[in-house]
Amino acid sequence: MGVSVLTLILSAACVAITYHLASRLTAVRRLSHVPGPAWAPWSLLWLTRRQLGGRLARDLAQLSQQYGPIFRIGPNSVVISDPFEVRRVWQARGPWSRSRWYEMFRFDQPVETVLSQRDSTAHGALRSKLLPGYSGKDVDNLHSVVDMCIAQFISLVERKYLSTDEMLRPMDLAEKAQFLTLDIISTLAVGSCFGCISEDKDTYGQLASVTGSVPLVVVMANIPDSFMLLQNSISRALLPKEKMEGVRRMMGIAQKNAATRYGPDKTHERDMLGSFVNHGLPYTNAWLETFGQIGAGSDTTATAIRMTILFLITNPHSYSKLLSEIDTAVEDGRVSSPITDDQAKKLPYLQAVIKEGLRMWPPVAGLMPKICGSDQVVCGKNIPAGTEVSWAAIPTLRNKEVFGHDAECFRPGRWLDETAKERLPVMEQVVMLCFGAPSRWECLGKTIALVELNKVFFEVLRRFDISLVDPIAPLKTYDASLSIQSDLWVRIQRRA
Ligand code: HEM
Repeated sequence: MGVSVLTLILSAACVAITYHLASRLTAVRRLSHVPGPAWAPWSLLWLTRRQLGGRLARDLAQLSQQYGPIFRIGPNSVVISDPFEVRRVWQARGPWSRSRWYEMFRFDQPVETVLSQRDSTAHGALRSKLLPGYSGKDVDNLHSVVDMCIAQFISLVERKYLSTDEMLRPMDLAEKAQFLTLDIISTLAVGSCFGCISEDKDTYGQLASVTGSVPLVVVMANIPDSFMLLQNSISRALLPKEKMEGVRRMMGIAQKNAATRYGPDKTHERDMLGSFVNHGLPYTNAWLETFGQIGAGSDTTATAIRMTILFLITNPHSYSKLLSEIDTAVEDGRVSSPITDDQAKKLPYLQAVIKEGLRMWPPVAGLMPKICGSDQVVCGKNIPAGTEVSWAAIPTLRNKEVFGHDAECFRPGRWLDETAKERLPVMEQVVMLCFGAPSRWECLGKTIALVELNKVFFEVLRRFDISLVDPIAPLKTYDASLSIQSDLWVRIQRRA
């Protein structure tokens, strides 16, 4: 009897293992015509290891050189780096939709946010309620808030971080750039500034919580069911408290602010939240969108500011050309103080610098996988229905066919080259992929981000000269869909 039970168990185990191996083999064979690292098709371990290493975006750039414009990174995942194919997959009215990877943006299960919503119709409906607030149409103070926060940033530098020939007062630009963007987005989103710049600290622990939680969340995004595990009190209690503290505090602020706009004593404000409310967003969605805004709108723009300044100060030719454009514009009286968005748009080299910074280091370099319900041909390969198709941000935006032979280099002049005139419309289209444009998921905060970038470089560089404290190790950067960056130590001196 004992033997027969054992035999039964062993037989069942054999059947289970054989079934598992057969289904694994079928999954591996399904995309075997797509090249890629040998271990990637067998499990998610390859991808998880790369993700935890904090270099995924840069690793994908290397793999794109090795395997070409399409390669495989998981049992059901391929990555593409041909900008024309990325545009086709992301096209607004195409057959592709978001994959389950986006469920990481469902901050409070089961309510969807605009970032997590995968159903196109529901996404479109939610987006239409948010658009007027994001576009600035319903918000009176977009430009003045950006001006005010930049002025505070400048005064912080003058107060604490201005070096002279006699004295070095290093400043971590990585941190201060995020203080600036956090203050801007908190004021715009909920009408109350976090005060990071004025207090010169991560007032609500937002920065610390992003650094602590995002790397794990991005790994979990590849295993969407894992998020369900977090939705119970036991696993929540096991999460590192100090790392989650900032997230909780941020959620609390979003809920508290949204609560003031609903109910019998509600207040009406002409800010973004006010616009969402006026367009019929229920309370829970309103606080969740506000919470999402703080994440989506601060790290991204801060990365654009840091990396563009880093590229500039390490490229003396481009740096001096921008300074010369700034000085001439001031001398000619073509700009006010502070510069307006319209005036900045008329400065060709400044515009070229902004696009080149975004191109060289796309602030959102996550996989952003899309799936299709039917078989498709992508980059010349048959892609079965249900396969996740992600982009490799860096090689897509450094495509030589589009940006020229030196696409790997930071050279803003490429946007103004006489010889590039014909290519210019395509260059403009491709660089906008960094905002997810022109897809139906295009960045809602693009206008806000560009207003910030149009003003910040001009206002800072018209006053200060910036150089690296340690050019051998300029900064620390960790790829986690966003770039988690620190230790960009700079020396700032007043310009002569
Ligand atoms: C340089 C700065 C920024 C970059 C590069 C950037 C990039 C992106 C990208 C690539 C997407 C598309 C994601 C997808 O395909 O699903 C996106 C979506 C989004 N971004 Fe940004 N972003 C930036 C700044 C901002 C700011 C400042 C805000 C808020 C004020 C913001 C709010 C959003 C929102 C709400 C979405 C979701 C749009 C939707 O699903 O319809 N972003 N962003």
